[in-house]
Amino acid sequence: MERILITGSGGQLGTVLRKALIDKYGTERVVATDIRPRTDEFGSIDLLNAVDRNGLENLIKEQSITQIYHLAAILSASGEADPVRTWDINLKSWLNVLEAARKYKVEKVFFPSSIAVFGASANKVDTSQTEYLDPLTVYGISKAAGEQWGNYYFSKFGVDVRSIRYPGVIGHESLPGGGTTDYAVEIYHKAINNEAYTCYLSKNTALPMIYMADAIRATLELMDAPKEKIKTRTSYNINGLSFTPEEITRSIKKWYPNFTVEYQPDFRQKIAENWPSSIDDTQAQRDWNWSPHYQLDDVSNEMIAELRKKQNLLKEV
Ligand code: SER
Repeated sequence: MERILITGSGGQLGTVLRKALIDKYGTERVVATDIRPRTDEFGSIDLLNAVDRNGLENLIKEQSITQIYHLAAILSASGEADPVRTWDINLKSWLNVLEAARKYKVEKVFFPSSIAVFGASANKVDTSQTEYLDPLTVYGISKAAGEQWGNYYFSKFGVDVRSIRYPGVIGHESLPGGGTTDYAVEIYHKAINNEAYTCYLSKNTALPMIYMADAIRATLELMDAPKEKIKTRTSYNINGLSFTPEEITRSIKKWYPNFTVEYQPDFRQKIAENWPSSIDDTQAQRDWNWSPHYQLDDVSNEMIAELRKKQNLLKEV
């Protein structure tokens, strides 16, 4: 009998992962929490600040939690505004989760890591699983350290920690907040409103990205894989697709030929330049058969269709 806890349920990934977990396990088995509580069509998202160790432990005990998806975090761009607070929120909460998992024998724990763990020294093209990690953002530092803590709790205490280094996630269901890859979602919102977009990255900056449906499928496939198949307990590189702002613009123009983009790089350009432009995910392919389904025009096709649907529904109201 699985009992699932999600932290950061109201975030970009949390919103969609929660729905996927409810579809898989049933509403009553999924305990959704966030620092901003609210109620929506799937029920309530309860208040939980995962930095509050007692609050977290009580919930895990009372609800007999068997799996945790710890999605609460501050992302790369907004994290730079207050590095110490970002470290506290990202890392303290993760240690609380690991400790609680150890104490209360939670069966599986999921930790979202990121391409942000790579920095200036990493090869930028087809960056490998075992590439040198010297992240330049506090978000990247917290994820790189978090990976090591996950591996430590696995090796030392046998906690079944599983993790993915997500590329930038593109989806129509929810909005990202405070990331360096957010432009790849914002740009579609502008296009369907027939507005021009001002991009904060330069036109040739390639970054690894993944479509939401692929990101969710990867998460569930990794968590469902037999334990003995999981050879990496830090975090798995996964590939989706890679493109530059100019390439995504070209793709969007197939639907909106008059769409225009202006480039005004800001501080996020430097963050992006130190990240990989593409990812090697051979190990995820080998260990748990990972392969992405969505390429750039598939993403554009679905993003535009789904955002238009939402727009039309809003017009009808
Ligand atoms: N999408 C994240 C960010 O831009 C990277 O994991 O911060």
